[in-house]
Amino acid sequence: MTTLLKVEDLVSGYGRSQVLYGMRLRVDAGQCVTLLGRNGMGKTTTVKSIMGMHPSWQGQVLFNGANIQNLPSHRVAQRGIGLVPEGRQVFPNLTVEENLVATAADRHHKPNPWTLARIYQLFPRLKERSSNFGNQLSGGEQQMLAVSRALMTNPDLLILDEATEGLSPLVRQEIWAALALLRQEGMAILVIDKNLAPLLHLADHHYIVEKGQIVWDGDSDALRADADARQRYLGA
Ligand SMILES: Nc1ncnc2c1ncn2[C@@H]1O[C@H](COP(=O)(O)OP(=O)(O)OP(=O)(O)O)[C@@H](O)[C@H]1O
Ligand SMILES: [Mg+2]
Repeated sequence: MTTLLKVEDLVSGYGRSQVLYGMRLRVDAGQCVTLLGRNGMGKTTTVKSIMGMHPSWQGQVLFNGANIQNLPSHRVAQRGIGLVPEGRQVFPNLTVEENLVATAADRHHKPNPWTLARIYQLFPRLKERSSNFGNQLSGGEQQMLAVSRALMTNPDLLILDEATEGLSPLVRQEIWAALALLRQEGMAILVIDKNLAPLLHLADHHYIVEKGQIVWDGDSDALRADADARQRYLGA
């Protein structure tokens, strides 16, 4: 297995308050990996540190074998990590189509690059809304657009931070179905989400974070079997 992303001994925080105490995780090519944990445990801070959106104080972030620690965000994106950020953040004054084109990046070596046509196949709802503005979309449509924008950068790794938060069960289901399709196509995915059940089906490996450290990791069978860990760390 080729290791795509490797985070080791990552330390970070805000001002004088430390949040990450030696975070670690690994995503191999084609794998779907989760980062689980209760509110405020440091999941988003980890993602922001990987993406160069927040400085890390110590540690290592390797992507495709190269050190990307504290590279500027646009460089991290160019290296091939696509982020669906917490809170979606689509451009409100651009149409769906303009939102999609805005992030498009033809990272040449890709055999089957993401195009508008492929995006509209994945999320037909976006095709219907293609000329609507970002601020005219439902929460679910915005989330589909946020996922699609990340895909249009043709990433090697897709990171989703709470992509189903605030969505109805039906719309959530659409997001999970899209992720399952992406995974089938071999896309590496790192998912942060509070809904454990669909992730047990989707993911190959799970990491649980508690107070800025990994306290448990294993595959879906191990997590299913470990009611104690689920209860203690996830309340599920
Ligand atoms: N910009 C900031 N300035 C100061 N403290 C922050 C900032 N962002 C996050 N924190 C604090 O850092 C800690 C970790 O936050 P983080 O957002 O990484 O958690 P999380 O695991 O993503 O939580 P959630 O599940 O609620 O999204 C929390 O105590 C939070 O209050
Ligand atoms: Mg968060």
